[in-house]
Parts: sequence; structure tokens; C-alpha cells
Amino acid sequence: MHTQVAIIGAGPAGLLLSHLLHLRGIGSVVLERRSRAYVEQRVRAGVLEQGTVDTLVESGVGERLLREGLPHRGIELRYGGAGHRIPFEKLVPGRTITVYGQQEVVKDLIAARLAAGGDVRFEVDDVALHDIATDRPYVTFGGLRLDCDVIAGCDGFHGVSRPSIPAGALTEFHRDYPFAWLGILARVRPSSEELIYARNERGFALHSMRTPQISRFYLQVPPDDDVAAWPDERVWAELKARLETVPGFTLATGEILEKSVTPMRSFVAEPMRHGRLFLAGDAAHIVPPTGAKGLNLAVADVRVLTRALARFFADGSTALLDGYSDACLQRVWRAQHFSWWMTTLLHTFESDDAYGGRLQTSYLDYVTSSEAAATTLAENYVGLPYEEER
Ligand code: FAD
Ligand code: DHB
Repeated sequence: MHTQVAIIGAGPAGLLLSHLLHLRGIGSVVLERRSRAYVEQRVRAGVLEQGTVDTLVESGVGERLLREGLPHRGIELRYGGAGHRIPFEKLVPGRTITVYGQQEVVKDLIAARLAAGGDVRFEVDDVALHDIATDRPYVTFGGLRLDCDVIAGCDGFHGVSRPSIPAGALTEFHRDYPFAWLGILARVRPSSEELIYARNERGFALHSMRTPQISRFYLQVPPDDDVAAWPDERVWAELKARLETVPGFTLATGEILEKSVTPMRSFVAEPMRHGRLFLAGDAAHIVPPTGAKGLNLAVADVRVLTRALARFFADGSTALLDGYSDACLQRVWRAQHFSWWMTTLLHTFESDDAYGGRLQTSYLDYVTSSEAAATTLAENYVGLPYEEER
């Protein structure tokens, strides 16, 4: 069996790559370890940058996103007993974010691939990569061999692609945080029209949403915490304690549909390529979710990789493929910094770190009073222009 691009992983990165390549006449096979139902149900990101929305819409998979996605023109920073709005429409005119669940993006992309006759294989659990440093790489799975010209490692942080690169060929940069996020999906109308990022001495809390009937919340929790420690009553009590801190705000409660704990880490592997293996998305880099950047970075990588592969398959030129890693890493490191900054600004570190707390307050006061500082937050949050747009 032969394909031009073997894609490992059917998350947003792998599926979008397969879709964009198809639009350019390039064949691919997507190999996914989990079932289709599993990847379509997995609750994760929800904030799409302007550029991510444009990418999906322009490539023909944005119809439901435009219909059901919730455009947001600002966010609230809540701390010290008051809420402060960061107004995107004023600070970064024309650029907004759209709230639309990652699993909805995944559903739309799978539907588009299958409708176009795409080859997406689920429940393939023994993928191995071979001869990646040669120009005849191949992948094995389930007793089959898939020969290809290029392998795209889109299999997330715990995938098989990055570990297939020989030790010493990658430099890894990382930072772990002394807390995790408990993510909560609930059947209750959002209590706010816009997202609320709340700093609180009990820990950070985030109020987001999915639809006018479904809310999404996150709570800062200890790094090794277990969902079993969070019965529904405790979740609501803690969300109320951290969010009901401004006059007149009451949190509506409802049925909790899903809870999960996510570790917080920053990670980058450089370069994002070894021979004919190209890493994209979480396979190459992880950000803590506070800046809502992970999925958006995956989309940005895939845009760069698509153009590079289109050139390669058109005339054999490796010029863009050779520049792939550097082209991506610039944006990756900007998002790394922004995500680290939002995380350190809003989370509670050690309870006795009074100095750190004062620094946070000082910076929050600056961001909420200086247009220059607020614009820094806004332009990073809605997403900086892609390289080719600058
Ligand atoms: P993944 O989505 O991880 O996809 C990788 C795929 O590869 C998976 O389907 C996996 O099953 C498969 N796979 C793994 N190993 C193998 C193997 N050996 N063989 C075959 N397949 C394999 N980002 C944002 O931009 N905005 C947000 O608001 C946001 N919020 C988040 C909230 C939470 C709680 C979490 C956990 C993440 C959040 N993120 C957010 C990050 C975002 O979800 C990820 O960055 C995004 O999923 C990356 O996409 P990906 O396709 O690179 O990787
Ligand atoms: C959501 C997730 C985030 O990480 C974030 O910063 C904002 C919103 C969400 O899932 O809705």
C-alpha cells in the first residue's frame, strides 16, 4: 500500500492536514488509535482564533461553525472584587474569537474527509514508523505496511511519532506547573455572555460555554487531583466561591455532564522535523490552556506544512519543507510566552508567596487600565496574523 503522506493521529492537526492536502490533490492516509466515537466525543478546547475560523471556512468545512459558533468580542478579567472587560472590537478591530467545541471541529473534518472518499482508519493501535531518515519511509500497523513519501506526526503529546526520532536529534524545552485544571461541562445556560478569567486566592477559575444551553468551566486544582475528589456539590460550591466575587453576579447551576483533570505543562521539541517525519500540533509542542492556544497552534502548523508539501509534490523542491520547523517555531514560541504569561498572571502559586501575589495584582491593574497593555493581551488572544499575512 502506498500514499503520499501517512498521517498519524486524527485530532484537529491530522484531520485538517488530510483535508487541506486533498484540496491540493495530494493523497494521505490517516491512522488513529482511538475509535471515531471517542475522538468525536472528547471534550477539550473551545476557543478558535480568527485565523483558525478563516482557515476552516475558506477550506469549506466552516458551514456549521458559522451557524453554531459563538463569536465573542471581548473577555472579562475578574479579580479583586471587580470585573474588567478586554474589548477586542476596540483594541484589535475586525478580529474576534469564536467559541465552538474542538470535538465539533473534529466531527466536521471527519465528515468532510469521509464524504470526499478520504482514507481515515480508526482503532489502529500498533502504529510504528520506519526509515524516517530516508526518502522511503514507511509505517506499519495491524500487520500492514504503508509506504509513503512523507510522514506527518500529528499524534499529540503522548503519540508514537516524536519518540521515533533518535535520542539526541531533538532538543526539548519544558516547564511543569504545580497545578492542574479540572474541566467541567454542564447543562446550564452560561451565567455570562463572555468568558470570565477569574483570579482568586482559592485558585483560578474560568467560565466558558459551548452553546446557549451548555456551559464549560475550569478550576485550578492540585496537580495530582482526581475527579473522584470532586462530587458535583463541591464543584458548584468552588465555582461559586471563585466566580461570585463581583456585585450582582450569580452562577447558574445545573446537571454536570463531564469532568476531567488535565495537567498543565509547557513543552517544545526542536526541530519539528527529522528526515521525512514532520511533527505538527501537540506532537511537537504543548501550552498550558490558559491562553487557549493549543488547537490554534496546531492549525497554524498545518497551514505551513500544507504549503510546503504542495510545493514538494509539485516540483520536488524541499525549500519550504526545509524551512517548516523555523517557520512554525516563531509562532510557537510567541504562544508559549503568552500562555505562560496568562498562566502566571492568573493562577495561585504558593499560598505564602505574597510577593508574587502583589506582582500579579500590579500587572492585572496595568492590563486593565493601559490600552497598550490591554492590546498586548488582545492581539495575542485573538491570534497574531499568519506569517504570510504579515
Ligand atoms: P490531539 O488532539 O491530541 O490529537 C492527536 C490524535 O492522535 C488523537 O486523536 C490521539 O488519539 C491520536 N494518537 C495518539 N497516539 C497515537 C498513536 N500511537 N497512533 C495513532 N494515533 C495516535 N487549545 C485551544 O486552542 N483553545 C482552547 O480553548 C484549549 N483548551 C483546552 C482545554 C483543555 C482541557 C485541554 C486538554 C486542551 C485545550 N487546548 C486548547 C489544547 C488543544 O485541545 C490541543 O492543543 C489540540 O487537541 C491539539 O491537536 P492535535 O491534533 O495536535 O493533537
Ligand atoms: C476554553 C478553554 C480554554 O483553555 C480557554 O482558555 C478558554 C476557553 C474552553 O474550553 O471553552
